[in-house]
Amino acid sequence: MNKTTPFALLLLVSTVVGQPSTTPARPTFAEHIGPLVRQSCMDCHRPQGPAPFALVTYTDVAKRADMLKAVIETRYMPPWHPADQSDHFLSNRRLSDDQIALFTKWVETGKTRGDLSKMEKPKKYPGGWSLGKPDLVIKMRKPFRVPADGRDLYRFFVVPIDLPEDKWVKAVEMRPSARSVVHHALFFLTESSDQDEYEGDTGRRGFGGLRGFRGGAFGRGFEIRGLGGYVPGNQPQFLRDDLALELPKHHDLLMQMHFHPSGKAETEQSTIGIWFADEPPSQRIKQIQLPSLFGFMSGLDIPAGESNYKIEQSLTLPVDVDGISVGGHAHYICSTMHLTAKLPDGSTKTLLHIPEWDMDWQTEYHYKDRLPLPAGTELKCEITYDNSAQNPANPNSPPIRVRWGRQSTDEMGSVTLRVVAKNEADTDRLNDAIEQSMIESLSQRFGGFGGLGGFGRGGSSGRGGRSLDRFDKNNDGKIVPDELPSVLRKRHMRRYDKNNDGVIDAEEMKG
Ligand code: HEC
Repeated sequence: MNKTTPFALLLLVSTVVGQPSTTPARPTFAEHIGPLVRQSCMDCHRPQGPAPFALVTYTDVAKRADMLKAVIETRYMPPWHPADQSDHFLSNRRLSDDQIALFTKWVETGKTRGDLSKMEKPKKYPGGWSLGKPDLVIKMRKPFRVPADGRDLYRFFVVPIDLPEDKWVKAVEMRPSARSVVHHALFFLTESSDQDEYEGDTGRRGFGGLRGFRGGAFGRGFEIRGLGGYVPGNQPQFLRDDLALELPKHHDLLMQMHFHPSGKAETEQSTIGIWFADEPPSQRIKQIQLPSLFGFMSGLDIPAGESNYKIEQSLTLPVDVDGISVGGHAHYICSTMHLTAKLPDGSTKTLLHIPEWDMDWQTEYHYKDRLPLPAGTELKCEITYDNSAQNPANPNSPPIRVRWGRQSTDEMGSVTLRVVAKNEADTDRLNDAIEQSMIESLSQRFGGFGGLGGFGRGGSSGRGGRSLDRFDKNNDGKIVPDELPSVLRKRHMRRYDKNNDGVIDAEEMKG
């Protein structure tokens, strides 16, 4: 036995076994709870904010204390879905065990006020905006009526901007007028055209809408020209450094909105605030979406009752990039998302891990620091689905077969990583790799067409066997546009129809 005194032993035990509890015996609102709530809840729970009630003053918090305690203890609030990677993301909202214990203690010891006069004044939100007054505020031209019930609705709306010069966007904040029915919105850009064209525009249907607009929503290749989107509870943030997204002159916002009837008829007319950068950025942000096109290419087809269905796609970075932010998109029965990076030195990094997907919180997570990913890094995204009756989020009882589609009872699945090439001159090579990965996944999907596939689902991602033959569905030795999948049509015709006669003939098919 050594000479350790019982006292030292006690100290030793308490440091080894766990942190000695820091929870004060009687926490007060002024000193403990007010700062906690304003730090972790108020950005959403404030007057005119995205959450249903404000949590700013003592009364706001004390009158709902029991409910708040319940949602804090179960970690339902604040919403934060990535696995705990505390140092990974900016504004990590996840509360620590100590913070949770503090709140519980405050409620259990009688919601003590403390000296409220000693508290700092709460942060202000001018005009109700999160980031201060926007440089430009635009609004949907007409209200859109969402019925009390029925299927989900997808509509495109053009919100006029039409600026006389190119601008660069640091942040966008959308404020729906009927938050309860707006499931999400995606912001694309489209060339401005005669406004009369949109007169009486009560929203166009479907994704087909993307093609109907002038200039389309697609830039080079399959690159979607967009300004991000809106999902409930996603707090807008300024892009850091000199990063900004392009808003070319004479373009309007093309907004795809997904409405989810709430049981009560509502009228939606969103307002959108935009903040500009003073200077063009020195680097362009690129989006790497895996699996491509929200999982459209993955042949998503989940048997009823299947509890562990998986889709995946990989991409090897051709150049050095820095990760900026990451976010996932899927519907009800998605269960997990995992985007990992295998670096050339053999080490692995988790870029996003969502252990329990919740469709209501499709947050974009910004990395605290730029995340360096050298050339040769293999990005791999895996998304799993639970279509069993055991999944409480399953909208179908009993479960039914679920395929890719736009209704929220269909499925999608992808993780989008926003990056910049370390070397701006490398951006085109990065674009090519993104496009190539999409085309390869498309080949996997449509590989069976001509019987010459060689890219069966889950098959190799090698290049051999990639040929245009498979698109020649009637085997007549040439390809007419109708034989091509619509997403590839324009691109392949431009690329392979060298003599521009509207047909890819046998000679041209050789590439
Ligand atoms: C990112 C935005 C955001 C943050 C941060 C946030 N909330 Fe919420 N909260 C919401 C939204 C939106 C709703 C309404 C949707 C819902 O109930 O799921 C909500 C709902 C709630 C509800 C009602 C739940 C119910 O079942 O009706 C409570 C209670 C709540 N929040 C407490 C908190 C507390 C406490 C914090 C901080 C510790 C917090 N929230 C942080 C956005 C947020």
